[in-house]
Parts: sequence; C-alpha cells; structure tokens
Amino acid sequence: MSMKIPFFNNKQSVESMHYPEENTPEHIAIIMDGTGRWAEKRGMSRVYGHKEGVTTVINIVKAAVKFNVKVLTLYAFSTENWKRPNSEIEYIMGLPKKFLNMYLADLISNNVRIKVIGDMDHLPSSTRETVQYAIDRTENNEGLQLNFALNYGGKQEILNAMKEAIADINDAKLSLDQLDKQQFSRYLYTSGMTDPDLLIRTGGEKRLNNFLLWQLAYSEFWFTDVLWPDFSEREFIKALEEYKQRKRRFGGV
Ligand code: IPE
Ligand code: IPE
Ligand code: MG
Repeated sequence: MSMKIPFFNNKQSVESMHYPEENTPEHIAIIMDGTGRWAEKRGMSRVYGHKEGVTTVINIVKAAVKFNVKVLTLYAFSTENWKRPNSEIEYIMGLPKKFLNMYLADLISNNVRIKVIGDMDHLPSSTRETVQYAIDRTENNEGLQLNFALNYGGKQEILNAMKEAIADINDAKLSLDQLDKQQFSRYLYTSGMTDPDLLIRTGGEKRLNNFLLWQLAYSEFWFTDVLWPDFSEREFIKALEEYKQRKRRFGGV
C-alpha cells in the first residue's frame, strides 16, 4: 500500500474539509475561464490573472487527489487562443514551466501522472520540452491522471483521428467494419480514458469552446460565475455535491 504524502499546506487548509467519497465523478474536465477579467477588475494586466490562476490549478489538483478523482482534464489553451496578443500568449506559454518548477516534486510524491492533450508539435519548443519532461517523469505514476489541454481543439482532434483511422484502413491495419465508436476513440488524445462524468466551467459563460466535443457527449455540465482565480476547493465541492444529485440516464429510463 502506498502512502499519500500530503501537499504542503497553504492558506486554504484542505485538511479541514471532508467530502464523502461515494459517487465522486471519475473524470472531471474543467474550462478554466475568467482569469483575464479577474485581473482587469483589479485594474491590473490580464497576465496577472493568469499568474493567480496557477495557484487555483494546484489547489484543485490537491482536492482531486484528496477525493480520489481518477482523471482531471484542465483546458489551459485552445487552438483559438492564438488570436490573442503575442505578449499574452508568451506569458501563458511560460506558465507550465512556472507551475512545474513549483509543484512537480509534490505532484510526483502524490503519484500524479501528467499528460498533455492537444497539438504539442506547434507549441514553443521551451514549453514543449518542459511539459515533455514532466510527462516522462510521471509516466509510471498510478494516482490522479492530470491532463492539460494545451493547444487543444475538439474539431481538430476529431479530424486528425479520422485521418489516422483512414490511413490505417488504407494500410489494411483496420477494416471499415471494425471502425465503431470504441475503435474510433482510440485515435483521440484521450485514448484509454473514460469520458468526463462532469464538466465544470468557471467565469460565467455557457459554451464549450471546442472542448472535448466527442468525449462530452453524455457528461453532466456545471457552470459558475466565479472567476478561475477565485475558484476554490469549496466551490469544487459544490460541483461534486450537485453532481451527486444528478440522475444520469444515458438515454434510458
Ligand atoms: C482563461 O481565462 C485562461 C486562458 C484562456 C488561458 P481568460 O484568459 O479567457 O480570461 P477572461 O475570460 O478573458 O477573463
Ligand atoms: C476559455 O475560453 C478557454 C480556455 C480555458 C482555454 P476563452 O476565453 O478562450 O473563450 P471565449 O471567451 O469563450 O471566446
Ligand atoms: Mg475567457
């Protein structure tokens, strides 16, 4: 039996909060929105919000570890976010390094496995190398699977999967008859993972932004106006509590 080493305590004491484990979603996906507005409201530049958002990321990862969530997928940068000013993009692309410098050791001791979903080939090389290092260092861990959606787009993911499946059909590695939903999902970035049970979006908007279009087909959605830097373990628990009340019928009765 492996022992969980608690994360360093910070101002928000996670030890003081308890959450019953039954009916916890296995896979939670989060659209972390509202970081720019959080900073603008304080008369500061948007990147200050992104910086604060990193603290929320680690707090929510800790909570997910504590509640035995199996997979946590965080939307960090979409394929549409390249439309932003260069200076903001550069700052965001530097965040994985800041995050991992601060927390990789903790994540490793908590048995967290890091993965990236999205087109890693077109990330700046320094960002790619940093996240690749974390992926390699944690690949044998068996605790929480932490997916960062980086340069991720759902339509692109489905299109790429389709192209790869067609290539395999052409190479006779797969027959057209074999290509069903289960086979197809093996070509997605989320291959081998269960689909999200719960989608959370912070920041007040109610849209998907090209996130996990295939995988969210039957997920429960939970929205909050709270901006990502203000999102806390307490808010996270609210989402989990509401999830517990939902009746998932998957089309049945
Ligand atoms: C989400 O917050 C983080 C990223 C997309 C990187 P935003 O940057 O979209 O913040 P708002 O929505 O403009 O407040
Ligand atoms: C948040 O949405 C997407 C991510 C967290 C990556 P955006 O802020 O990019 O999108 P809008 O505001 O819905 O356009
Ligand atoms: Mg936004």
